[in-house]
Amino acid sequence: MQHVVDFIQANHDRYIEELREFCAIPSVSTKNEHKKDLERCAQWLADHLRKIGMENVEVIPTKGHPILYADWLHAPGQPTLLFYGHYDVQPPEPLELWESPPFELTLREGNLYARGVVDDKGQVFIHLKAIEAFLRDGGRLPVNIKMMIEGEEEVGSENIGTFIEEEKGRLECNALMVSDTSMLGRGLPSVCYGLRGLCYFEVEVEGPKQDLHSGSFGGGVPNPINILCEMMAKLHDKHGRVAIPGFYNGVRALSKKERQQLRRLPFSEKGFQQTTGARKLVGEKGYTTVERIWARPTLDINGIFGGYTGEGAKTVIGSKATAKFSTRLVPNQDPAKITKLVRRHIERLAPPSVKVTFKVHSEGKPWVAPFDHPIVQAGRRALEKGFEKPAVFIREGGSIPLVTTMYEEFGRPCVLLGFGLPDENAHAPNEHMNLENYLKGILSIAYFYHEASQASGKGVEAS
Ligand code: BES
Ligand code: MN
Ligand code: MN
Repeated sequence: MQHVVDFIQANHDRYIEELREFCAIPSVSTKNEHKKDLERCAQWLADHLRKIGMENVEVIPTKGHPILYADWLHAPGQPTLLFYGHYDVQPPEPLELWESPPFELTLREGNLYARGVVDDKGQVFIHLKAIEAFLRDGGRLPVNIKMMIEGEEEVGSENIGTFIEEEKGRLECNALMVSDTSMLGRGLPSVCYGLRGLCYFEVEVEGPKQDLHSGSFGGGVPNPINILCEMMAKLHDKHGRVAIPGFYNGVRALSKKERQQLRRLPFSEKGFQQTTGARKLVGEKGYTTVERIWARPTLDINGIFGGYTGEGAKTVIGSKATAKFSTRLVPNQDPAKITKLVRRHIERLAPPSVKVTFKVHSEGKPWVAPFDHPIVQAGRRALEKGFEKPAVFIREGGSIPLVTTMYEEFGRPCVLLGFGLPDENAHAPNEHMNLENYLKGILSIAYFYHEASQASGKGVEAS
């Protein structure tokens, strides 16, 4: 292990320069104009995977953006780890709020700034650099590794399901490993054992056939924005609970033991509030902030538009209004059932004076797993060696739908070792990743491969 650690310590500068190239490719999956950039990004990654010694590297086309596959399978008798990550990123807009250009990696005050640097390019790269440290000069990895890196995570992983079904044999593994989550805070290496699910919806309300003068027509015709606001206001009750009938059916209550565990975490409500800049924290009565964001289902409007939104005043009744909203789900809520309930609720709220269309954008299942599995514990030990700090077990409020798919379909443990921080602006302007966490991440993942091989036979079956 020592020569691997020494190699990593000696290569810090190069790790930044290479990540700069990766982040320079604007692989924004939601926009069609970037389709070529996603292909270019996949090719760049494929070349890099070959360069570090991965084998059977393939760029696999899908109906959407390509998926990358690669493996290294020369550790007989050792476990096989399947890595999952994504090379697509969120749109950088609004551009004027960035302090440095989003696709030019910039080091400022110990942080690396770029769109996608922490979600998820830097974290994917952490694994590539750990692998490289073992494989250079004809070296060997202590475990078998397969990699599956997709380009559609940020848009709901639409095509990877088909890929997994078709390639089930090739993806067979002893555990899934993912680095696409955050640490609880600075100096708190974290293993994540739960994610929320997600359903994303859009509602459009159409009223008059065109925009109308609000003086000549106001009061005499349905106003789509008024109506949409009324409908949206009925998604919650006055206690902040989701008011959709049946929404909480099947929600697994937190056990006493888990509540205690969560309460013991060094989570700062004040720090959380400061990160958000909110004047006051709010949420479902009877739950702490950590419980609200990790273990309770929620509903949020993500965007609402219609009518006049330009400068100054314009007296008008817009002909249409649209809202995008999403629910975060917890075990054992089922996204398909939730979609049905939400659709029915929206249909009931829709008055006959307007036309209401309901659209489902994406659905993803929640995930929670016990963290006493030997391979998960190997992950914890690896983080503790990489960071030289005790690790904590956390859940996350965000969603990685593929984790549940792999957990349910392959019945394999999932090890989520994330190296982001909660205030690093993922999906927002000035996204960044702490440089120290990037480098300690590489070290930790190298230790993880080592620990996973050590755990082999102790509950972690070899392949
Ligand atoms: N890396 C995030 C998931 C995440 C978010 C983990 C926050 C931990 C904390 C992932 O790239 C993501 O953004 N997922 C989307 C879901 C997807 C279906 C669009 C999300 O959570 O909104
Ligand atoms: Mn991500
Ligand atoms: Mn994301």
